[in-house]
Amino acid sequence: MKEVAKYLIKVDAEFKDGKIVPEIPYDEVMRLVNEPNIVIIKTGIPQETLAKVIAGTRDWATKTPLAEGPDTFDNNQHKQRLHIAKIQQAPQLFHDHTFDALLDLDAEFQQTLLSVFDPMRNFWNSLTGNNESFGIRKGEPYFHPQVTHYPLGGSFFGRHWHPLNPQKVGVILALNQYGKDYTSGGTGYVINDHIVETEGYQDMGDMILFRYDLPHWVSPSSFADRFSWEDPAGRWVSILPFYNPWGTPAEKDEPQGWKTHIQAAKSATSEAAV
Ligand SMILES: [Fe+2]
Repeated sequence: MKEVAKYLIKVDAEFKDGKIVPEIPYDEVMRLVNEPNIVIIKTGIPQETLAKVIAGTRDWATKTPLAEGPDTFDNNQHKQRLHIAKIQQAPQLFHDHTFDALLDLDAEFQQTLLSVFDPMRNFWNSLTGNNESFGIRKGEPYFHPQVTHYPLGGSFFGRHWHPLNPQKVGVILALNQYGKDYTSGGTGYVINDHIVETEGYQDMGDMILFRYDLPHWVSPSSFADRFSWEDPAGRWVSILPFYNPWGTPAEKDEPQGWKTHIQAAKSATSEAAV
């Protein structure tokens, strides 16, 4: 375990029998995340496995028409997002592939996706004390496995946030390599009024963990490159959101629950000292 920048901690792990096993106990990882810090787990998932997820997703996307209507949260779809979120006013430009109906995919592609989403799911379950499986559950929180492509030439995701629960910890797995497959763009966070940029710190196979209520964003890919929806170059990540799409959306005001919590702890300490 090593602090590589302020609020940015790298944790080694071993990839054993399809499971990501961190060098420190899960509750210790959870404590670091909640403090809060951004934790980068070096999962050790083989590069061929990660590359296959990108190749398989691209192949599936060429055979699947782009989704256009409102999201239904009950299918496998991919969409070119270019949009400003209504409530949070966060602008976005990226291509996402969402596999809510992962279990309905053909066996081969399903297996390819599960080679990363199962380790991510198991890790998240161990971290948060859950025991959740894949599958759609109307009216309840469930997993929305997603492979996101940030094309070259100006893709990004503006500052936004999520309710802390039921996700608790957001997970972002890098499917390709900064400095080789792409040279700009990464997730940023605000912790105690300090900006934490992870761009350049997340290698292929590294999984970022963050408290889900921290304001965060994705910094842009360089405008020096030509933009194209068709060009597969750029940053690819897989994420594992867990929420009820028909539940209450995040509020307009940024949640600072952790900050209040820290302040409350401080004043309790100073009162105790008096
Ligand atoms: Fe987010």
